[in-house]
Amino acid sequence: MQIIIVKDEVEGGQEGYKIFADAKKNGAHVFGLATGSTPITTYKDIIASDLDFSDSISINLDEYIGLSADNDQSYNYFMHKNLFNQKPFKTSYLPNGLAKDIDAEAKRYDKVIEDNPIDLQILGLGRNGHIGFNEPGTSREIGTHRVSLTQSTIDANARFFEREEDVPKEALSMGLASIMKSKHILLEAYGAEKADAVKGMIEGPDSADLPASILQNHDNVTVILDEAAASKLT
Ligand code: F6R
Repeated sequence: MQIIIVKDEVEGGQEGYKIFADAKKNGAHVFGLATGSTPITTYKDIIASDLDFSDSISINLDEYIGLSADNDQSYNYFMHKNLFNQKPFKTSYLPNGLAKDIDAEAKRYDKVIEDNPIDLQILGLGRNGHIGFNEPGTSREIGTHRVSLTQSTIDANARFFEREEDVPKEALSMGLASIMKSKHILLEAYGAEKADAVKGMIEGPDSADLPASILQNHDNVTVILDEAAASKLT
């Protein structure tokens, strides 16, 4: 893993942007994208740049089950607000959280990923070490799947909702095996509340208890951390 430690997420965003710009320059065509607070500074720098994604494909990691694309808490809505409205891609894929048959939707999404191998995948990191919505204990073999979010993730997401009972309890997530097939993985993590997960991901045993530790087995991972998130590294 290549580890870049920055002062804060603004500086981290610039480093993340440079990795997107380099990937683009080197012919990357398919970009795996994440939602949440972490990638926002990178997306801002991409928006402010002259990078052009109108020939590129994006594939998002996950979506809540039960929220429509125009619900302002859905990940589809988030992506349009924070990136796609300003930087459109030729085609943008997200799981459909309103699909009637969730298993069929998971299969459809796996086919999308298989047909469009991801060149660069950006990830955030859950406080419990999740990536995508692959919560602790998730099998490393399964593809896109239905997830019951853990209480820790529901609590972390509650800040975006008026009432905790409105926070969705289920999501559809790309699987760890698909994430691992990406040619280059960029993980960003900011803030002291991520420090334990960062330490486990980089220095801990490679274990399903901390899903991000699987990245120790990938040969092209770049990790961008602020000082607080890096504070427990030895
Ligand atoms: C989002 C995602 C999640 C987040 C993680 C961190 O698409 O897949 O794994 O990256 O929960 O969230 P933030 O960035 O809000 O701290």
